[in-house]
Amino acid sequence: MSESRRKLTALPEWQALVEHFREVKDLHLRNLFREDPGRAERFSIEDCGIFLDFSKNRITDRTLELLLRLAESREIGLREAIEAMLTGQPINATEGRAVLHTALRNRSATPLIVNGEDVMQSVKGGPGVLPVLEKVCRFAQQIRQLERRGWSGKPIRNIVNIGIGGSDLGPAMAVEALRPYSDRRLTFRFVSNIDGSHLAEALQGLDPAETLFIVASKTFTTLETTANAVAARQWLFSSLPNRSPQAEREALAKHFVAVSANPQRVAEFGIDPDENLFLFWDWVGGRYSVWSAIGLPLAIAVGPENFLAFLDGAWQIDEHFRRRPFRQNIPVILALLGIWYINFFGFHSYAVLPYCQLLVRFPAYLQQLDMESNGKQARLRPIQGEEFVQWSTGPVVWGEPGTNGQHAFFQLLHQGTEIIPCDFIGFAESVYPLKDHHAKLLANLVAQTEALAIGKTEAEAERELRQECERTGMPFRRDLVPHRFFPGNRPSNTLLAERLDPPTLGKLIAIYEHKVFVQGVIWDINSFDQFGVELGKQLASRLLPAIEQADGPIPSENSSTRQLISWIRRHRQPKSEGAA
Ligand code: F6P
Repeated sequence: MSESRRKLTALPEWQALVEHFREVKDLHLRNLFREDPGRAERFSIEDCGIFLDFSKNRITDRTLELLLRLAESREIGLREAIEAMLTGQPINATEGRAVLHTALRNRSATPLIVNGEDVMQSVKGGPGVLPVLEKVCRFAQQIRQLERRGWSGKPIRNIVNIGIGGSDLGPAMAVEALRPYSDRRLTFRFVSNIDGSHLAEALQGLDPAETLFIVASKTFTTLETTANAVAARQWLFSSLPNRSPQAEREALAKHFVAVSANPQRVAEFGIDPDENLFLFWDWVGGRYSVWSAIGLPLAIAVGPENFLAFLDGAWQIDEHFRRRPFRQNIPVILALLGIWYINFFGFHSYAVLPYCQLLVRFPAYLQQLDMESNGKQARLRPIQGEEFVQWSTGPVVWGEPGTNGQHAFFQLLHQGTEIIPCDFIGFAESVYPLKDHHAKLLANLVAQTEALAIGKTEAEAERELRQECERTGMPFRRDLVPHRFFPGNRPSNTLLAERLDPPTLGKLIAIYEHKVFVQGVIWDINSFDQFGVELGKQLASRLLPAIEQADGPIPSENSSTRQLISWIRRHRQPKSEGAA
């Protein structure tokens, strides 16, 4: 990779796309399909048990060729960037770190040498990937065999994960997604929000003597997590029949474990880092950490074998990503299509629609993965004076499972003035075959992709309306035709797999991780830092005392901020006094 890079928009590969865009921007998918019987087959990839049909995108063969040229551009250096990530070079340049979540699922038994150390075995003299994984699996097994007991001797049956962002979304999403594989004797709850109602509701009905808290925080300094962990500790202690420092220490050791990269803070909280800490490392980004010990709740829920299968699925995609030519590379193709829409068509919103209720948290998970990674504008390798991008970067990511979304926001997808590219995700088989439910679910998935792409012309809408009028005796109204018109030409990808099982979930997540990475490389941003979350945190800690106090100065120059805090003070005061 060269030290600095020309503007993306100045690259000849980009310019070729700009020109090409002018020629093809108005082509309609209806015609593209009609004129080309081989389109679907040509614009599909099947590998690692994942089938991607990307034919319902507004592309021609030439578009794909030009997008692939962009991906191959020497100046962008995507191939080198992929290799640099997978081999542990410090590609997170703003934080001076490697990015090695792929090491966490390296199932190849090959060492991964970083700074002269095989990180699979040890990191800075401490345990490395494999020993921690072994510890995770051992611990998960003990819980599943009801061998871990609480202070009263009762077995642990409730797992409460306290963490936020990447220390919550990954395990919460995955435990839900793989619920059919989970041990039903165990209860899993996830607490992330500093809003006290989250913890309070999560603890409802739980017996402290049977409850294990997993305090998950890479830094172990995150406000929400430390506050919730302290409150949970208090909840545990107040349930003890004899409260002595000794009894509290013993209870803490039996009911609290930590997952963190900060052993010192863990020890300060009172958790023994030697016994009850599951370590991970600074080169695992929070939103990429579900493969690390952050996945502990998942390992407990589905068992070590399934957890390893989950890692294995992701590893298969890592291999696919590394070795497949870009034309057959699922993450690369998805990334390029995203760029085509964001940077050329100006479609800045993007929906992920799993036709699978178990993936209900998947869109939220992808939101962090994509928006925290690529919601950036500072360039990574600028020429001096060009520190900021002059092109769009990460889109707004959102979604809901189908078919629910169909009855909520699909109206806008079909007829709204915004065009929102979508990813549809579906599975040939259901884990719960219930009459014909699954066939109906799949029929809806496929139908939606066709309806979005092909639409319904005004002539078709009019014909249909006339037929309806004849059938029902209703008078024909021409003015209704535009309301029944579907413009179509709304792009989507469809990702299919046989079933949602542990390896498949691992594959899906890894596909999106790599897609986000490829886009970051092309946009010349660092997908692995998150400075954008800091300012709000800083201001919140400055404003906290002003909210806690009934009066006194409010440390803000901003009149709206002062007004809001004054209002809150006026309306909080009576309650605080009452509570005291
Ligand atoms: O505030 C954002 C963030 O740093 C995320 O990137 C991260 O996943 C989350 O907070 C939680 O951080 P930690 O695991 O250190 O508590």
